[in-house]
Amino acid sequence: MTYSIVSYSLLVSAALALVAATPIHPRAAASWPDPEPCTGNNSAIHDPSLIKKGDTWYRFSTNDNILIANAPSLNGPWTYQQQMLPQGSIIKVADDQQLWVSKLAPDVHLIDSTYHVYYAVSTSGSQASDIGVATSPSLEAGSTWTDHGSLGLPKSSDYNLIDPNLFRDGDTSHFIFGSFWRDIFQTTLSADDPTKWSGAAPANVVYNSTIRLGADATTVEEGGFQFSTTVAGKTWYYLFFSSGLCCQAQDDLAPAGEEYKVMVGRAESPTGPFVDQAGKSCLSGNGGSLVLGSHGFVYAPGGQGVLVDDGGRAVIYYHYVDTRIGYEYKDFQFGFNYLDFSSGWPVLTT
Ligand SMILES: *[C@@H]1O[C@H](CO)[C@@H](O)[C@H](O)[C@H]1NC(C)=O
Ligand SMILES: *[C@@H]1O[C@H](CO)[C@@H](O)[C@H](O)[C@H]1NC(C)=O
Repeated sequence: MTYSIVSYSLLVSAALALVAATPIHPRAAASWPDPEPCTGNNSAIHDPSLIKKGDTWYRFSTNDNILIANAPSLNGPWTYQQQMLPQGSIIKVADDQQLWVSKLAPDVHLIDSTYHVYYAVSTSGSQASDIGVATSPSLEAGSTWTDHGSLGLPKSSDYNLIDPNLFRDGDTSHFIFGSFWRDIFQTTLSADDPTKWSGAAPANVVYNSTIRLGADATTVEEGGFQFSTTVAGKTWYYLFFSSGLCCQAQDDLAPAGEEYKVMVGRAESPTGPFVDQAGKSCLSGNGGSLVLGSHGFVYAPGGQGVLVDDGGRAVIYYHYVDTRIGYEYKDFQFGFNYLDFSSGWPVLTT
């Protein structure tokens, strides 16, 4: 097919007009605030998960058998403590996993006065994965941790058993996981035992069928995180997730816009259906509203979580590449910002 110069340029300007007219995120990228000030050791952080005990914040992150750091404030100073499971997990996903297995995307919760950290064991890029849980009465690094191993989630070629997230609503323990393949799924944990799967069949809740730029594979959506809040008397259930490529070498970056970013869908029920701000389904319509993307020195933010701080303010925390520091896996930084839900959608604020 050949274009005349005129029809081609008309086509391009029509396409540009369409892009300009389509609202893609709740806040213009130019006005995303920088991460809040944060001191101490914020390096080598992937997929952080935070919880507060007394006056101390605890931060769990991916790799090296799950890393634990703590701080007197979200602003730091953060001090690295130790690995959560120095001996590794009792889950075996491969015969010789010592060399190449990662412990991925921890998710920490206080349940009936015991701290639970859900974690994944996986070999990079394969579906030989599983999700387990370790518990501690105190959160301290060292021998306080008991590894319970696998939750018993079913294996499937539709998903990968990584990136766990628990969301408790009343008596129900909603449980999200997934990455690549058909992206993100939701099931429940046992009502009596939060270390076990309930047996409820996992349902697909987020899937992007778009073939990503320069690849013959669909777009990655992973790192689901559920959150609920009430706006003007109405309770909304949010599903935050990370979309795009998380960790590229500086000389092999994802095409612009295909790098990691934080998306959200919203529903009236904890089980969905989740839709974006334009009303597009996150499951069948490639929906998702952009909450945070690359801006300024922040590149490829994701692996996010959301919490409410002591002052009652919602906080989004995440890992990102600080382009002034470096793009290497070990260079990834911890960051956070405040969120304003007053419009019914999460908007970064200062
Ligand atoms: C900083 O924290 C990382 C883990 O996030 C750890 O690997 C590294 O050893 C820590 N550095 C120091 C100086 O404690
Ligand atoms: C879906 O995939 C396309 C192509 O990679 C991407 O541009 C878009 O941001 C993705 N949408 C979501 C909600 O992840």
